[in-house]
Amino acid sequence: MIDLALVPVAGWGTRMLPATKSQPKEMLPVGRKPVVQYVVEELVNSGIRQVLFITGQGKSSIENHFDIDAPLITYLRETGREEQLQELQFEREDVEYFYTRQRRQLGLGHAVLCGKAMIGAQPFVVALGDSIIGLNAESDIVSRMTAVFEREKADIVVCFEEVAAEDVVHYGIAKPQGTVGEVFELADLIEKPSVADAPSRLAVAARYVFSPVIFDALAETKPGKGGEIQLTDAIRILLKRGHKGIGVKLADNEQRFDIGNFESYFQAFVEFALADPQYGTALRDHVRKLLG
Ligand code: UTP
Repeated sequence: MIDLALVPVAGWGTRMLPATKSQPKEMLPVGRKPVVQYVVEELVNSGIRQVLFITGQGKSSIENHFDIDAPLITYLRETGREEQLQELQFEREDVEYFYTRQRRQLGLGHAVLCGKAMIGAQPFVVALGDSIIGLNAESDIVSRMTAVFEREKADIVVCFEEVAAEDVVHYGIAKPQGTVGEVFELADLIEKPSVADAPSRLAVAARYVFSPVIFDALAETKPGKGGEIQLTDAIRILLKRGHKGIGVKLADNEQRFDIGNFESYFQAFVEFALADPQYGTALRDHVRKLLG
């Protein structure tokens, strides 16, 4: 049973400047919670019990967020603020946290490679710290992926979201083998293809399961665009060598919310705020008024 997830949170987040100048994009709130809290809650819901964050400069607020804050708990308890106390319940999740730093931002693939010494010979999940799956992270995609990984004896399982035909140009796109159902065999990945060349509309969606053989491929991966070591390139090396890769599709109600750019961040915030049990209805009225 796979219970370890690596969560990379070391990127610069340049597309979200100035919001990310002195705080990590993974700590931006979407509705009531910071992005990375949704990520951890989703992982715990899928059976993950060890989380290894790959952090970097300026990211210490992520570590602080998952600490148990004893003075704050005492203060809330002594002043009878039971409701607010409930909001700190996530600190008590049955999970162990580990942190290591990516000392140079050399890309997502390099960030994953930074976990090699701790992960060793076990299979593991990778969950991007800037992406939420499902409204309020209500998704068990990772447990579906780890089940497929074990059943199929795969080396790679990648999560995919179906996107509009014109959007394939922004993503890594699956080249499936055979028929595409909820689970399908992965022949290759094509990074940001043109609409005409796209082999499918299935875009890589921020969750992966790997056997440790990915570390060998990452060590061999040459820096690509912007001098970065791309995770996609390492996956392609393994697929070319005949390692088994499987795709798992998100369900229709399991949208991926990407908090890496303002357009999708704004959309995510609005959607989560509109779904807020306390303020959602009033916000709906307010937005209607604004829209005339
Ligand atoms: P992105 O591909 O969005 O890169 O990262 P970025 O550097 O954070 O953002 P931009 O492009 O400058 O705006 C996807 C995930 O991988 C992590 C990020 O923190 C994010 O959670 N990442 C990316 C790293 O951990 N290290 C890196 O070198 C790059």
